[in-house]
Amino acid sequence: MKKSNYYDNIAPIYDQTRWLSETVAEEVADFIIKLVCATPETSFLEPGIGTGLNIIPLVKWGYSVTGIGISAEMLNQCRQKLNGTPKNLRLIQADASQLAFPDNSFDVVLTVHVLHTVADWKVFLDDIERVLKPEGWYLNCQWITPPARREFEGYFRKILSKYEVSKPISTAIQKIDVEGYLHQKGYRSNYLVAKEWTVNNTVEELISFFQSRAYGLCWGLADDQYHLAINDLKEFCLNHYGSLDKIISSPAKFEIWAYRIV
Ligand SMILES: C[S@@+](CC[C@H](N)C(=O)[O-])C[C@H]1O[C@@H](n2cnc3c(N)ncnc32)[C@H](O)[C@@H]1O
Repeated sequence: MKKSNYYDNIAPIYDQTRWLSETVAEEVADFIIKLVCATPETSFLEPGIGTGLNIIPLVKWGYSVTGIGISAEMLNQCRQKLNGTPKNLRLIQADASQLAFPDNSFDVVLTVHVLHTVADWKVFLDDIERVLKPEGWYLNCQWITPPARREFEGYFRKILSKYEVSKPISTAIQKIDVEGYLHQKGYRSNYLVAKEWTVNNTVEELISFFQSRAYGLCWGLADDQYHLAINDLKEFCLNHYGSLDKIISSPAKFEIWAYRIV
């Protein structure tokens, strides 16, 4: 399955199967506004905008936001959450590997879980530098899978490995040395944690996320085999946790590496 199809397929369940809630996203957006000392004129670009989880608060607060996404369905989810496309939001369906904007177009570019998806991350970073205004901010962000959910995923990976698996969709974060690359270009960086919070899910909820094939690792098996793997997961969970009602808690954080030319 192509990546755009994968995201088209999971678009309706993307938000509910992740862990960045609207409230947390608002707090993060507020943190970002303060960090970049935003004024009403500040413009934002998010390549790989997804369903708009990260930037919807900025749109609601009236900032000028441009989002690029390869998946039409993910962009549709974003529009639905905003009841349309407000005037201050520009949504572009395109491959973000090349940014089709004039030089010096944006005050802030943020990327969240997208560097591993573009054709060449160094070319992409060069392009971000080009479209950023002088003194603009590049914010490379992540809110990676919380540890307890990562552990749960590990159990399922083990189960999947018993079956005939074709190559699943890879959504793993590659080792990409943004820091090293931008430092040698003269950028200074700051590591910041915008927000820490706790994610709670019942075992049953987590099983249902996998049942709905919400993640890349879920796409390597044909339906009948996948059904068997999910049954195995349920059985494993009953033995391991004692009950599907058990709550799994995990710390989560929204991390930002903020770059500026100095
Ligand atoms: C892991 S999701 C992250 C979405 C969003 N940034 C977030 O944090 O929720 C990756 C997103 O990037 C989009 N995407 C993947 N490859 C892309 C590309 N080459 N150009 C533009 N968007 C891309 C996908 O459609 C998906 O919505």
